Amino acid sequence: MIDTQFSNQVDETLTFSETVHRRRSYRGFLSTPVPESTMIRILEDAQRAPSNCNTQPWSVHIVSGQKLVKLSQAMLEKNDAGQYTPDFSFDMNEYYGAYATRKDAQGRAYYEAMEVPRDDKEARHRAAAHNYKFFNAPHVALLFMPSFGDNVRVAGDIGMYAQTFLLALAARGLGGIPQTSLGFFAETIRDVLGISEELKMLFGISFGYPDENALGNRMKMDRVALTDSVTFHR
Ligand SMILES: Cc1cc2nc3c(=O)[nH]c(=O)nc-3n(C[C@H](O)[C@H](O)[C@H](O)COP(=O)(O)O)c2cc1C
Repeated sequence: MIDTQFSNQVDETLTFSETVHRRRSYRGFLSTPVPESTMIRILEDAQRAPSNCNTQPWSVHIVSGQKLVKLSQAMLEKNDAGQYTPDFSFDMNEYYGAYATRKDAQGRAYYEAMEVPRDDKEARHRAAAHNYKFFNAPHVALLFMPSFGDNVRVAGDIGMYAQTFLLALAARGLGGIPQTSLGFFAETIRDVLGISEELKMLFGISFGYPDENALGNRMKMDRVALTDSVTFHR
């Protein structure tokens, strides 16, 4: 489905429901940087995210400017060489049934929006590599975490943080995209930014002002019916 109806206007008067519905994943941004005062307010909102026992395990690294260019170059090189160094495994083939169907539909929607034929492997590689250009966003927030046990609880907390961050962007007419693909180069990111080996990277969020003319922003993902996700017990 093609969607070009979104607004870049700063508007902090949205209702909660409007904010939730305005949020979507953007895959194309203007180069305009987000003012620091706005960024701080977004980070202050995100900091209110709940976490297991209030442990607040997020360690957020915001990268902009020349450092972002350097990071992009390093990741693109590693991506072309197939040198992945993730902290957490991610095997798309593990999805089954309806989940696999939804995953495939998402991939199809992206390549369709990018006007890439499904069987053109080279063009698909190029389109996927936009992840490592941060979809032209002027900033990325890299979400690192300490490692405890099987990490499931901490990962849940990071998810809470991420959605709060994304809604804080949406409320102000900004946009972002969570990217597991950035985590495929966790070691590279630690090297470039000088981050301790003790911190593990789950995913990152590229963010900024959405570019309404970007091909990657032409897709809008649907959701299954409530009855497929929710069961009432009375
Ligand atoms: C944790 C997480 C990681 C994601 N990683 C990527 C990614 O690496 N690249 C990408 O293009 N989209 C990524 N997405 C975006 C999803 O594809 C998107 O959220 C989903 O298709 C629903 O669309 P919407 O966010 O526009 O509602 C990720 C989303 C989440 C929540």
